[in-house]
Amino acid sequence: MIAPPRPNAYRDTWAGDLDASREGTEARVAGWVNRRRDHGGLIFIDLRDRSGIVQLVFHPETSADAFALAERLRAEHVISVAGRVERREEGNVNPALPTGEIEIGVSACDVLAHSETPPFPIDEDTPVDETLRLRYRWLDLRRRGMLDAMLARALVVRTMRDILDARDFVDIETPILTRSTPEGARDFLVPSRAAQGSFYALPQSPQLFKQLLMIAGYERYYQIARCFRDEDTRADRQPEFTQLDVEMAFVSEDDVLELMEAVMAAVFAAADFPVAPTPWPRMHYDEAIARFGFDRPDTRFGLEIRDVSELVRGSDFRVFEGVLGSGGVVRAINAGAREMSRSELEGLNDVVRVHGARAVAPIVVGDGGWTGNLAKFFAAEQVAAVNEALDATDGDLLLFVADEVDVTAPALGGLRLHLGERFGLIPEGRHDLVWITDFPMFARDEESGGWTALHHPFTAPRGDLSDPAGLRSRAYDLVLDGVEIGGGSIRINTLDVQQAVFDVLGLGPDEAQARFGHLLGALRYGAPPHGGIAMGIDRIAALIAGRESIRDVIAFPKTASGHDPMTGAPATVEEQQLRELALRPVAVKARG
Ligand code: AMO
Repeated sequence: MIAPPRPNAYRDTWAGDLDASREGTEARVAGWVNRRRDHGGLIFIDLRDRSGIVQLVFHPETSADAFALAERLRAEHVISVAGRVERREEGNVNPALPTGEIEIGVSACDVLAHSETPPFPIDEDTPVDETLRLRYRWLDLRRRGMLDAMLARALVVRTMRDILDARDFVDIETPILTRSTPEGARDFLVPSRAAQGSFYALPQSPQLFKQLLMIAGYERYYQIARCFRDEDTRADRQPEFTQLDVEMAFVSEDDVLELMEAVMAAVFAAADFPVAPTPWPRMHYDEAIARFGFDRPDTRFGLEIRDVSELVRGSDFRVFEGVLGSGGVVRAINAGAREMSRSELEGLNDVVRVHGARAVAPIVVGDGGWTGNLAKFFAAEQVAAVNEALDATDGDLLLFVADEVDVTAPALGGLRLHLGERFGLIPEGRHDLVWITDFPMFARDEESGGWTALHHPFTAPRGDLSDPAGLRSRAYDLVLDGVEIGGGSIRINTLDVQQAVFDVLGLGPDEAQARFGHLLGALRYGAPPHGGIAMGIDRIAALIAGRESIRDVIAFPKTASGHDPMTGAPATVEEQQLRELALRPVAVKARG
């Protein structure tokens, strides 16, 4: 429900608010022609405004002028009409429409604007090519589904603000033109005209600014913050996206998690999105990887991964032996009794290859043993032990992957998700939240062979830095239905620890000073213990609105290639603009 409009020359009520209680009264409504039906002597128009739809009836005897105008009305013309609210005849009641019991008998009509024929229907929920929708986004946004998504998103943000305002968090804006913040992606750069050859970076997040606000004594900060990351877009990734960014001083993990559970529980309640009551479960990073293959586990269905390395060691199966001999692992999932054709089984290899694994070894359980051509390689005790570990009974399909740990886990994790979808294993309407904790502090950088920070380099380590490989961090992520919807950490608040972390990352004092001098400077002036989190608003809104892609909850998103078909951005600029920036294009790639 929207508050009633202030009556003016265009409208004195919302179309969607009219019902039988208004029978016999006069009403004036304004909006777009959603649909028009010409019944010879009578013209029906569905008028749409933001609140909904009301049926208008144009009758030549009520107003010959209005009827003449109605004959020329087309879809998406903009009109304002006045008339009497009338009860529809028995057979014409439309129970699907909130206003379906009534219609307006139009006595006066103003045509306020014409519309060309839209390139796709606005009044139906038919599938439309996404590029076309983005090209004509102002029309796409008129469609009910998009309006609902935008309203759901606004509700998410409003609820977040309500809870944080009530808890004395201060909304503070931080710069968009700034220096690089390392969140693991490439920066978008903005050339400076005043300092030619120098660049601003758009923030990948307000991370350092919010830490500075804690050092400045603000204690509780939040911001609905736009973040910019030049990385490949995906269904859940955009080059610019929005975070609820939060930071608190004098806190530890429990304080941040409790706050965010209060915020998110309120968001889910406001959106009628059923989740378990708080506190939400916490899972150690290692457990998530071992059982589900990823640090963002979808816990809504079983098919969990088991390590069977020790149970199959010493078999005659050369593939397993080779992997185990070189320090790898053999892991498996029991897919249950599934009908899968040979070609579908072979297709599973493609699923694991995405994660770098070579193949899946399928085995079907039969008569207490294993059937198929791999069965002969294993001793009866091995078969029995694996069956027990996997809870396998006759008819079950067991799927094995043997490889390095870092390959096997995501390969089986991906396979598990594939099977979950293929066999519809996710219960309708179920939503699972889980916190992931105890992340490794560092990960090996494939290219350089050095260390990178798994979260970001300002995250506090859990222990000392003498063993980077085994060190855990004080970071946490919140995962909803297998999607990472937020992440944060307790931060480093002393100079020596911060420099020690930079050292592990190969960032000597001079380079650290050059890039993060402002943070290092601030750490010299009394930094309180602090920590925070950032929630991905686009992802949260998409999950709540039941959309596959975050593009559907962003008013003006970019395509997969970072292009905006509506504005044409990114676009070339005038040579004069480049000259002012002392820039010269070196290559111009034509867009296909
Ligand atoms: P992080 O990088 O984990 O943390 O981001 C927080 C959350 O933002 C969302 N997100 C994205 N959403 C859409 N498109 C993207 N490209 C994208 N990247 C991230 C995710 C993610 O969980 N400064 C830290 C937070 C902190 O430590 O407090 C940060 O930005 O839902």
